[in-house]
Amino acid sequence: MSEPILSTHALSGGYGDFQALFGVDMHIDPGEVIALIGANGAGKSTFLKSVFGMLPVAKQMVRFDGADVGGTPAHKMVRQGLAMVPEGRRLFAGMSVEDNMRVAIDNARLPEDQGQWTRDRLFDLFPILGEKRREMVENLSGGQQQMVAISRALLCQPRVLLCDEISLGLAPKVIREIYAVVPEISAAGTAIVLVEQDVSLAKSASNRLYCMLEGRITLSGASGEISRDEIATAYFGGSHAVA
Ligand SMILES: Nc1ncnc2c1ncn2[C@@H]1O[C@H](COP(=O)(O)OP(=O)(O)O)[C@@H](O)[C@H]1O
Ligand SMILES: [Mg+2]
Repeated sequence: MSEPILSTHALSGGYGDFQALFGVDMHIDPGEVIALIGANGAGKSTFLKSVFGMLPVAKQMVRFDGADVGGTPAHKMVRQGLAMVPEGRRLFAGMSVEDNMRVAIDNARLPEDQGQWTRDRLFDLFPILGEKRREMVENLSGGQQQMVAISRALLCQPRVLLCDEISLGLAPKVIREIYAVVPEISAAGTAIVLVEQDVSLAKSASNRLYCMLEGRITLSGASGEISRDEIATAYFGGSHAVA
């Protein structure tokens, strides 16, 4: 079997003296969609930040495209083909939709005309962004801002896309619109890590699922084969009834 595009090996880390992750092993193949679920504070965002070079980790703890890259700064990880839709979107305020996209294009792994993702393709995927391309991002709705954040990450032409709670705070209809693009992204060969609090959404959108509890992976397997009881136990620890 070929090597995963991204894997972590006994990944541990945190913030200064505070350890938030304890030996996390995870892997993802090209074009695969995995979901990472877990309660608030479980360590999901810390995991993404550690993989993306935003927190210090040892080199051999993160392997990407055949090389040990742990601790490589985020802007270099982007050039190598990793992109992130961060928690809270973090768009560049005071800039238009298209200018936010241009920043990504200027820092991407490949030029726009050589990559899978162009502004035109993203405007096809999210037509409202085409209509609002000259609008300042702060004037957009939450869902539209999330579409800009996803577009900006895709314009980096990533081989793996890390998404941190892209459904948070959005209406169900908007969440469906946003999740509808996940299959299209993976069909383009881009692997996706979906950090998601909504367990049903996480299961239905992914091939495989990992559950994290207090900085450790407590469950992993094919999303279609994991039961709600197994998830509840892994999510809360011990045994809990599921509603
Ligand atoms: N910037 C930070 N400084 C110190 N501790 C943090 C910081 N961010 C998160 N933590 C702590 O790390 C743990 C994991 O947090 P986080 O990764 O944000 O969880 P999740 O994304 O699963 O909700 C929590 O105990 C949280 O309080
Ligand atoms: Mg988080």
